[in-house]
Amino acid sequence: MFWKRKAKETTLDMERIPQHIGVIMDGNGRWAKQRGLPRQMGHKRGADILEGICDYCNALGVKVLTVYAFSTENWSRPQKEIDALMDLLYDYLLQVEEKFRGRDMKLKISGDISPLSDKIKQAIAHAEEVTAPGKRMILNIALNYGGRDEIVRAARKIAKESKDGTLQPEDLTESAFSGYLDTAGLPEVDLIIRPSGEQRLSNFMLWQAAYAEFWYSDVCWPDFKNEDMERAILDFQNRNRRFGGVKE
Ligand code: IPE
Ligand code: IPE
Ligand code: MG
Repeated sequence: MFWKRKAKETTLDMERIPQHIGVIMDGNGRWAKQRGLPRQMGHKRGADILEGICDYCNALGVKVLTVYAFSTENWSRPQKEIDALMDLLYDYLLQVEEKFRGRDMKLKISGDISPLSDKIKQAIAHAEEVTAPGKRMILNIALNYGGRDEIVRAARKIAKESKDGTLQPEDLTESAFSGYLDTAGLPEVDLIIRPSGEQRLSNFMLWQAAYAEFWYSDVCWPDFKNEDMERAILDFQNRNRRFGGVKE
């Protein structure tokens, strides 16, 4: 006996656009290497294409786009590459006000920014402040972010509140725990996209990924196009999300 499957949709259903998409922006180094360029050039190109992808998601009505820009493990890279990534990030932050103008978008940074330079921390504070009125879409940049680190930081806050007597152990539900994470208040992550052919989370949104759909592509991030995003969303819309239940 065969399971009856619905025919695959071939155009986007605008009523079922994922609310929150996470992207592991991977493959910058390989993209550059394939072209005989330094890795930094791949990172530059990767940062440049983000704007178009943001606009596309914003136009579709995606509420949150979380992009993994620097992991807690990326500190193990050569200092020269780390410096280049930090410079790129700084330049990006300085341009946020202009880039977001007229787009009704808000910037949020997730991750532990404490080890970053004062210059970058100030640029983050400024970029978050000037874009705070943005209501249509949030661009959430995961920076010095690690899912394990995020959970440990949450656990530390919880331990402190518990010690201070402001939190009772029985009040710590799943939803209360979520409120201690960097993604507090954001909608659940529906779809996680990883380009460049790798099929792993690399410490991205461990808690939030519980029921996210995954989509992989061999395209390196600097070559990622709106059409790839469209394919990912279309594929997402053809999935049968059951959340542990039973569905036709
Ligand atoms: C992703 O591209 C960007 C960061 C991790 C900062 P990579 O630099 O990991 O590119 P590959 O995986 O080496 O191609
Ligand atoms: C994940 O990519 C981190 C970011 C894209 C920022 P990596 O390239 O660091 O992950 P691994 O090392 O391939 O797992
Ligand atoms: Mg990589």
